[in-house]
Amino acid sequence: MATIEAQGSSRGTVLVTGGAGFIGCAISSALVDAFDRVVVVDNLHPQIHASGERPKELAEGAELVIGDVTEAATWDRVLADVAPDVVIHLAAETGTGQSLEESSRHAIANVVGTSQLLDGLNRHGKLPRRIVLSSSRAIYGEGAWKRTDGTQFYPGQRTSEMLDQAQWDFSDAAPTAMRASEVAPAPVSVYGATKLAQEHVLQAWAKSYGVETVILRLQNVYGPGQSLINPYTGIMSLFCRMAMGGKSIPLYEDGNVRRDFILIDDVASAIVAGATSEKVVGEPIDIGSGEFQTIGTAAEIIARHYGAPEPHVTGQYRQGDVRHAWADVSAAKEVLGWEPRFSLGQGIERLAGWIATQPDVQPA
Ligand SMILES: NC(=O)c1ccc[n+]([C@@H]2O[C@H](COP(=O)([O-])OP(=O)(O)OC[C@H]3O[C@@H](n4cnc5c(N)ncnc54)[C@H](O)[C@@H]3O)[C@@H](O)[C@H]2O)c1
Repeated sequence: MATIEAQGSSRGTVLVTGGAGFIGCAISSALVDAFDRVVVVDNLHPQIHASGERPKELAEGAELVIGDVTEAATWDRVLADVAPDVVIHLAAETGTGQSLEESSRHAIANVVGTSQLLDGLNRHGKLPRRIVLSSSRAIYGEGAWKRTDGTQFYPGQRTSEMLDQAQWDFSDAAPTAMRASEVAPAPVSVYGATKLAQEHVLQAWAKSYGVETVILRLQNVYGPGQSLINPYTGIMSLFCRMAMGGKSIPLYEDGNVRRDFILIDDVASAIVAGATSEKVVGEPIDIGSGEFQTIGTAAEIIARHYGAPEPHVTGQYRQGDVRHAWADVSAAKEVLGWEPRFSLGQGIERLAGWIATQPDVQPA
């Protein structure tokens, strides 16, 4: 992990929900350095934590409380002892495809999990100075597109009919970068809808109490520490495991789906900046590498790394997946003084290097 620097003076207590997960572990050392006390609340969800044990990637100085954020009793237990100055709210169900069939599970964890946290803070009279929320690019759905005459429109969700006919893009139009000040939310997955609800619940509550909010809309995060067992997330680690086993990586649609892959190190520095920066704006901030790659390109780099056969296009599709997504990161530079530092090639090298050190990793 690259060095992550906190901004401003940030002593006090930080409470991190979902802090034993991929992103939580990656920020834990920097938080231990920046704050006097780091308390993590996580239920060690079995889909992510196969062993049910404290992850070794979680910094030693972080206190782990095993508890479910959706239960009021968790907050009574935690907040009897902890008075957070900053809360970083990461706990969530994160499966985009899975959320279509398990919508209640996603709604409960993501929406009720947020409202229970806020109710707990209220009940115990322990309002923090700031709450940082890890939101998602999924709140934009297909985002805004531009017609050939330059006018912007919202194409909405691609229909099953379009997808069955392999009509992947919207005709005579081009996608645009996701930028909170210019592109309105329009989720096309249940997951995206619950992440948007999280933002709205938090903003309405925090504005009423004068609590600062930093809402970070993350693009596709990948890198060392990513789950190698969760079948519903983490396309990059899945591709690595396929290539490792000598398979040709299958590409959905026509392989030209665009994504903004951002290395975990860059996401970690953005979240730490969000927790510690002196300047905040209430409006959401987009976090990504700032450029797109096609899934085909990412798969080719991975295949080359492992000496696997060329990837192949399958023409399959998945409901809830959007065609193109990438972030305009200018607000992050302006507000947080943050910039991404790693290219996709560097990131894949790091991910593959880390996978090679994992004891029980199985080819997919
Ligand atoms: N990884 C990405 O590509 C990405 C992209 C956009 C947004 N995000 C957001 O970032 C956050 C963290 O994502 P991650 O990649 O670290 O995911 P993760 O699944 O690795 O971590 C989530 C953590 O939350 C915990 N958790 C889940 N439900 C819980 C509950 N009810 N109570 C307590 N803990 C619970 C899990 O045990 C896990 O440790 C999520 O809010 C996610 O929506 C992630």
